[in-house]
Amino acid sequence: MNPLLGKLHPYPFERLRALTAGITANTANTANTAYRPISLGIGEPRHATPALIEQAMLAGLKGLSVYPPTAGSLELRLAFTGWLQRRYGVAVDAATQVLPVGGTREALFAIAQTVVDASRPGATVVCPNPFYQIYEGAALLAGAEVAFANSDPARNFAADWAAIDEATWARTQLLYVCSPGNPTGAVMPLAEWQMLFDLSDRHGFVIASDECYSEIYFRDEPPLGGLEAAAKLGRPDFRNLIAFTSLSKRSNVPGLRSGFVAGDAALIEPFLLYRTYHGSAMGPVVQAASVAAWNDEAHVQANRALYRTKFAQVTPVLAEVLDVALPDAGFYLWAGLPAAAGGDDIAFALALLAQYNVAVLPGSLLAREAGSGAHRHNPGRGRIRMALVAGTDECLEAAHRIAEFTRSYLPSSQTAP
Ligand SMILES: Cc1ncc(COP(=O)(O)O)c(C=O)c1O
Repeated sequence: MNPLLGKLHPYPFERLRALTAGITANTANTANTAYRPISLGIGEPRHATPALIEQAMLAGLKGLSVYPPTAGSLELRLAFTGWLQRRYGVAVDAATQVLPVGGTREALFAIAQTVVDASRPGATVVCPNPFYQIYEGAALLAGAEVAFANSDPARNFAADWAAIDEATWARTQLLYVCSPGNPTGAVMPLAEWQMLFDLSDRHGFVIASDECYSEIYFRDEPPLGGLEAAAKLGRPDFRNLIAFTSLSKRSNVPGLRSGFVAGDAALIEPFLLYRTYHGSAMGPVVQAASVAAWNDEAHVQANRALYRTKFAQVTPVLAEVLDVALPDAGFYLWAGLPAAAGGDDIAFALALLAQYNVAVLPGSLLAREAGSGAHRHNPGRGRIRMALVAGTDECLEAAHRIAEFTRSYLPSSQTAP
């Protein structure tokens, strides 16, 4: 067996399932069945899939008798570049600068296998912290070490890239960024991009920009994209940058498995080679549905409006008891617990489930202990992530239960024996 498999960490939901096993079983801790269960745990879109995508799939059933090219059809590539032009005002070459992917998850994994040269001593991949766990697994299986930059709540949860020392940057081959961030919802401003491009120029590493939440946002201005930042900063060739964009959240089709990558042609070419061997071509039915989805913006606006209404109603209820505010973007609330919780997000989440039958994700499961000296900590500790993916009524009901629970919460270590 590949010994690197042994380095993988269990997925946050596996850890949560193990932790809650005693609560959902019939024990003294049984989830309170006076309340119907509500899950804000998993970040899976639950709004309806637009009919136009389903119709395009049916119409695309022809073509199953041939192998699709890994690079996708020209029509599909033009749908990507047309969308990038409309959304970010960037000119991207359909022949050399885009590729279809089977959802961004597989592509975020595959890019590390393409980019990382583990034969160079100390090969390192840098990730934000907290982070989407695929980044870490991709780095480990590529034979690299992982270095984490902790998110700083005092700076809208921006990752503290400055805390990574020069020696680590010098060994870095790949940097993952996530903007809008999961779980923080923070969007990286242009100045942060400038800093990362400078570092990339100095040390030669690739930047993989995960942008799968880019279309769910709450301010007037849409989130800045990586390609857009590069173009604004005089890098029209997107040197050493590859951006990952997905239909899953934008168009409520996580089951379709469709997204694309765009960026530096010098990265896209070896990525296509890797993907050809890996066998990750997009089938013609998914291609047809994807073309329809990228070419339509009305369903995206309607979807965004649903999230805006929901967040406008739910956030104030939770802000009365938790340290939380409307994020820049995404569909999560990333909330700090009150002092009474003593920073123990796991105990808080388990008690909430047991007493009010609401599942949330303890923040410490989404992050690793990182940083040096006195600054070393798990930046998810003392926080919970709530995915507002269900309907507004269900999310509001969960918020009211969480508020009631939080007002009287004392961890068992602080209650009288
Ligand atoms: C930050 C982040 N990136 C990427 C993905 C993968 O999305 P998909 O593979 O559906 O495009 C997710 C899914 O939850 C995510 O949260």
